[in-house]
Amino acid sequence: MVAPLRVGIAGLGTVGAEVVRLIEEQSRMLSERSGRGVRVVAVTARSKAKKRSLDLRGIDWAKSPLALASDPNVDCFVELMGGSGEPALSAIEAALKSGKSVVTANKALIARHGLRLAKAAEKHGGALNFEAAVGAAIPVIKTLREGLCGTGVNRVYGILNGTCNYILTRMEHEGLSFAECLKDAQRLGYAEANPSFDVDGHDTAQKLAILASLAFGTKVAQSAVYVEGISSIAPEDLRAAEELGYRVKLLGVAVRTAKGIEQRVHPTMVPKSSSIAQVMGVTNAVTIDGEGIPAITLVGPGAGGAATASAVVADIADVARGIRAKPFGRPVERLRDITKAPMERHEGGYYIRLMARDLAGTAATIATRLAEQKISLESIVQRHPEGVDANGAAKKPSPVPVILITYATSEDAVYRALEAVQRDKVISGRPQVIRIEKN
Ligand code: HSE
Repeated sequence: MVAPLRVGIAGLGTVGAEVVRLIEEQSRMLSERSGRGVRVVAVTARSKAKKRSLDLRGIDWAKSPLALASDPNVDCFVELMGGSGEPALSAIEAALKSGKSVVTANKALIARHGLRLAKAAEKHGGALNFEAAVGAAIPVIKTLREGLCGTGVNRVYGILNGTCNYILTRMEHEGLSFAECLKDAQRLGYAEANPSFDVDGHDTAQKLAILASLAFGTKVAQSAVYVEGISSIAPEDLRAAEELGYRVKLLGVAVRTAKGIEQRVHPTMVPKSSSIAQVMGVTNAVTIDGEGIPAITLVGPGAGGAATASAVVADIADVARGIRAKPFGRPVERLRDITKAPMERHEGGYYIRLMARDLAGTAATIATRLAEQKISLESIVQRHPEGVDANGAAKKPSPVPVILITYATSEDAVYRALEAVQRDKVISGRPQVIRIEKN
C-alpha cells in the first residue's frame, strides 16, 4: 500500500478553498484514479483568523509559505497565492530544491520565472505542473505538452481571458457599455484584482507566452508579445462586425511565419462561422493547428474557483501517479530563443473604420491611398446620414462612418495608407483598425 501524497496549500482564496474542498469530496475517486491517496496535510494563507466556510480540522497551519514549502511532511507544494514575484517565487524554489513537486495556477510567475523554476524541477527531480495557469479547467497544457508531442504545431490561438470575452459578449448581445459589463465581471470574480490587467490584454499575453513555448519549443518570452486591449472597441464596431459576418474577440495568437514567431494579443475579427466565434461569456477556447491534422479546438470554463480548482487537482493527481513530465515539454536547455517576427510585417486582412468627410472625392482619395500601398479591398460601406435635418434643411457635410475590409496585406502598408489619408484631411479622429484572423 503506497502512502498517501501529502499536499500543502499556500493561499486559501476562492481557488485554494475550492481545492481543499474538492480533494476532500473526491478523495475516493482520486485515490482510485491516481493509485494513491491524496491528503491535504497543511495550509497557509495571509490571515489565519479570517472566517472561511472550510473545515480545516486536522490540517496544520504553517506560519509562512516558505515554512510550508520546506515542511518535511509535505510531498507536494501547491501555490495559489498569485503574483509574479515574492513570496510565491522563493517558496516554489525552496520546495523544488528540496525535491518536492509543485503545482501552481500562477500564470504571471510561470510567464516570468517559468524557465528558472523548470530548471530547478528538472535538477531536483520534482514535477512543476501549471495546467490551471492557462484556460483554467481546459487541459491545454497537457494537450500541447503530452497529447501532441509527436505533432508539430504551426499556430495556437484562442480566447484566453474570460473577463474580456464576457464583456465583449454582453456588449454585443445587450448593447451595454464597457464599464457596466466590467463591473459585473468583477462582481462575479472573473476579473483580476486590477482589471486593467484583463482588459488591456496582459493576462492573455502571459498565457499566450506559456502556450507558445510549449507549442514551438522556444523559451517563454512575454516581452516578445505584441499587446492591445479591448477598451477602444466601440458598440459600432460590434454592430459592423455582425453585419459583415464577423464577431470581435480578444485573441492571443502565436504563429510560425517565414519571418519568425508572431505572438500577438489584440481585438480580432473572426468569421461568424468559425468555432472560436461561437465562444461566449466567460468561456475560453484554444485552437491548435497541428501539422497534418485538422485544427483542434478546446472549449471550457477559463476562470472561476471551481474551474481553476479542477485543473489544480488534476495536476496533483499527476504528481500522485508519479508523472514527472518536463515542465515545458522538453529539457529547458533544449528550448530555443524565440525569433520574434516584427508586428509591422504582420500579414492579414484588416477592418478599418474611418470618420470621413461627406464630400465628393473622399472615397476616391481613400481608395487611391490604399491602392498606392497595393491594398486590395474586399468591401467598403459608407453609412449616409439623412439628407435633411429635423427642420427639413439640407444637412451640412459632416463626418460619416466608412468601413473598409481589406484582403490580406501587411500592417505597415495599412498604417502608411492611413497616415496619407490623415494628411489629406479627408477624415477626422483616429482610424479604428482591427485585424482579421481567418480559420
Ligand atoms: N482574470 C482571468 C480571466 C482569470 O478573466 O480569464 C483567469 O486567469
